[in-house]
Amino acid sequence: MTNLAAKTILLTGASRGLGVYIARALAREQATVVCVSRFKSGLDITCAQIKALGGKGISIPFDIKNVAELSTLKQQINKAVGPVDIIINNAAIEIYRDFVDYSLEDLQSILTINLLAAAELTRLFLPSMLERRTGHIVNIASLAGKKGVPYNSIYSASKAGLIMWTDAMRQELAATNTNISVICPGYISEAGMTVNSRIPAPWLAGTSTPIDVANAVIQAIKQNKAEIIVNQNLLTANMTKLMFAIGQFCPELVDKVYHCLDIVKLNRKRANANIFATDRSAASVHHYGIYQKRS
Ligand SMILES: NC(=O)c1ccc[n+]([C@@H]2O[C@H](COP(=O)([O-])OP(=O)(O)OC[C@H]3O[C@@H](n4cnc5c(N)ncnc54)[C@H](OP(=O)(O)O)[C@@H]3O)[C@@H](O)[C@H]2O)c1
Repeated sequence: MTNLAAKTILLTGASRGLGVYIARALAREQATVVCVSRFKSGLDITCAQIKALGGKGISIPFDIKNVAELSTLKQQINKAVGPVDIIINNAAIEIYRDFVDYSLEDLQSILTINLLAAAELTRLFLPSMLERRTGHIVNIASLAGKKGVPYNSIYSASKAGLIMWTDAMRQELAATNTNISVICPGYISEAGMTVNSRIPAPWLAGTSTPIDVANAVIQAIKQNKAEIIVNQNLLTANMTKLMFAIGQFCPELVDKVYHCLDIVKLNRKRANANIFATDRSAASVHHYGIYQKRS
């Protein structure tokens, strides 16, 4: 059981959404949380909450889309707090759209922020973890990485990549004292991308809370869990796993289940609404709860 007190934890996407809940859960464990995202205003609020809960928060605004510059972020972090013990790759964006309507920039942004930046941050910090014989990487993926979701196909691809990269890395790290976990949340209420889309998740698909996700992160680190599915409760999470297992034999059958659960209809609506969930131009807008349509 890993004790998180006094651990230095790099958390991306800490300015809003689920990141804030993860930061608070880490603060309750008395961890030092290095909070990274683009906008300082949100990070500073998260850091104040971390302090109030007994942890230490340091805010470092950085656009992780600039993957070639992540070594500079590493230098900044090392200068501020020394070596990092745990990385939580949580920042992500999604853009609902018919595949043919994506621009190359859309594809590059989603894959870079959701997958490449997570791998590059890990590549940069891992040598120090291996040398110090400690460390944990937690990747926040999604159920969308377990079964593709239409009209959010590149997000799905990025999350599937994150899940498979974690799976490979776990085996590569097996003989070391550094661990890696992946968390796969379903629809989340109260905060984050599902709420931001303003189109409610289908009732039958079930929802979880941001606290469920934060608890899963703590559990993954403390108990070194390979993968945690967060989907309403233990029973529904297990039924979801069973459905994915059936999907290995018969993907078209699970396509039908997704139709029945209204997931396809929901995503069609989101693509029609042409809402940017968390891209660069809309992110600041989301802070104020205003949404933009793409021209
Ligand atoms: N909410 C859900 O229903 C749900 C379901 C399944 C999985 N997830 C996963 O949970 C994680 C958190 O999602 P969320 O719902 O909290 O999303 P969110 O509310 O949209 O927050 C995304 C976070 O990522 C940061 N971010 C976005 N682009 C960035 C960039 N280029 N550089 C640095 N930071 C960036 C944002 O901060 P700035 O705007 O300040 O940069 C924000 O802190 C994601 O990995 C998501 O895929 C969420």
